[in-house]
Amino acid sequence: MINQIEPWINEEELVELKRVTDSTFLTEANLTREFEGMTRSLTGAKHSIAMMNGTVALFCSMKALGIGPGDEVIVPDMTFIATANAVIMAGAKPIFCDVYPDTFCIDVERAEGTISEHTKAIIPVHLYGQSADMVKIKILAHKYNLRIIEDAAQGIGVTFENRHVGTLGDLGVLSFYGNKTITCGEGGMVLTNDDELASKCYRLKNHGRDKKGIFVHEDIGYNFSFTEMQAAVGISQMKKLSKIISRKKVIHELYRRALANLDRLLPVHIDNRTEPVYWFTSFLSDDVDELSKYLLESDIQTRRFFYPLHLQPCYKNNEMFAANKRNFPVSEDIYKRGISLPSSYTLKEEEQTFVIKKIEEFYANRY
Ligand SMILES: Cc1ncc(COP(=O)(O)O)c(C=O)c1O
Repeated sequence: MINQIEPWINEEELVELKRVTDSTFLTEANLTREFEGMTRSLTGAKHSIAMMNGTVALFCSMKALGIGPGDEVIVPDMTFIATANAVIMAGAKPIFCDVYPDTFCIDVERAEGTISEHTKAIIPVHLYGQSADMVKIKILAHKYNLRIIEDAAQGIGVTFENRHVGTLGDLGVLSFYGNKTITCGEGGMVLTNDDELASKCYRLKNHGRDKKGIFVHEDIGYNFSFTEMQAAVGISQMKKLSKIISRKKVIHELYRRALANLDRLLPVHIDNRTEPVYWFTSFLSDDVDELSKYLLESDIQTRRFFYPLHLQPCYKNNEMFAANKRNFPVSEDIYKRGISLPSSYTLKEEEQTFVIKKIEEFYANRY
């Protein structure tokens, strides 16, 4: 099977993991601090707080801002469901908003139309390695006094106007889940330039205290700690990041060039203010169902776009989402037409050539 995405894991991770077994510290300690430091160097964020996954990092970001019951938070309709579930976890209500047809990121003009007296924050998602329009989002947030939490779960390495995504709002979140550009298996990171928000996030993930080993708790908190095993894998992955990003760019460009003459398979638009990371290489086509089935017959795995939030069975019939009964023509359309092709660092040249050949064959047979 040619996987749509798989991590690049080898002996290099073992070298860092050996440091953990040598130290005998398994719970977060020095390697976690090192990994957080590497994340700050990469992104330019003043603070980085490692957590067990990106979902709880989003939850803590909202809690740190005091968002909770009675509040509304605007999220794009086209995203992985964790963006909205983290809002629910914080006790607030996610308000879905359609996305732009070119970048697939939140439509800021439509977002303005969803604002009510309860709206406290907006969560732009930097989808598939692009950036949301942070200029417009900041203007909107300023106008309505909203806080910005960037969901950069898919955005490591992505910059918008030369600044790393996740550092442009009040807080930003990275994910290191197994399918991300780099991974720790599970893992998340809160980024912020705000000292107070950083210490609130740290306390939230550490049972409401500033350090481990003290038993007087200033706040009510949780246990979302990282582990040294995750940090070891993360350190090793971080060292590979630039190679992974470059290789994915080569893969993306080869697909784009090789498939350029297929006018039924359209490449995605890249905003020229964004330096993307081609976490996924995606195309739009009216034939994605048949195309993905055809490729699977040759053991080529592809991925459809995220199922729009407003259609999710778990939200659709839930009273809480009555306010979300709007139209979402763009997310519905790109869900129907989006397909992501194999684009792992580990994809071999001959495998990519085979994928391209099969796609050409599919369209030649069909039209
Ligand atoms: C857009 C988006 N938001 C949030 C998450 C949640 O991150 P995690 O899986 O680390 O909890 C993910 C990915 O998994 C994601 O793709």
